[in-house]
Amino acid sequence: KTPIAVLISGRGSNMRALIEACARPDYPARIVLVLSNRPDAGGLEVAREAGLPTIAIDHKAFGKDREAHEIKVDEAIKASGAEIVCLAGYMRVLTPYLVNAWHGKMLNIHPSLLPAFPGLHTHEAAIAAGANEHGCTIHFVTSGVDEGPVLAQARVPVLPSDTPETLAARVLEQEHQLYPRVLADVISRLHPGV
Ligand code: GAR
Repeated sequence: KTPIAVLISGRGSNMRALIEACARPDYPARIVLVLSNRPDAGGLEVAREAGLPTIAIDHKAFGKDREAHEIKVDEAIKASGAEIVCLAGYMRVLTPYLVNAWHGKMLNIHPSLLPAFPGLHTHEAAIAAGANEHGCTIHFVTSGVDEGPVLAQARVPVLPSDTPETLAARVLEQEHQLYPRVLADVISRLHPGV
């Protein structure tokens, strides 16, 4: 199984979907590290309960020096032996330091059909724009925020009665299915025949 690190900032429901996938004997990944930039991230507790190694590296300790924080994050990921990094609600804008260190090996999930609605508050934005469709995107991370080659998308309808919360919940269900699937695909391309 390919060792992966999962980076979170919050409740970690996508991380949980990856934990559940990795528990399947035939799934090609295993989680060797869950890392958060927020020591109080709810997902850290979920990961600990699942018996996974966790690390919190608080970005606030580094002031405005994003790169100094990323150097520590990168060290922790490398020390874990991870070969692939999955951003799962990791709410930090990355500098070229981390992006270049993990080029082609770092995935992100974003709650919109990119290139539509990059950034925050995507569900509000989709409703405000009158979009008929919304969804999520998994892409390789490059230096632009929410840019980088798209690996897969999942679509959901936007209903007239939707609030940002109901729409977010519909998208999140898709996120939880899509992330494990795409990660397995990426691994099968990195290690063909395994
Ligand atoms: C997810 O909806 C994810 O797509 C989004 O944050 C949420 C994290 O939820 N990510 C971004 O907005 C990244 N720009 P989770 O902690 O329950 O997985």
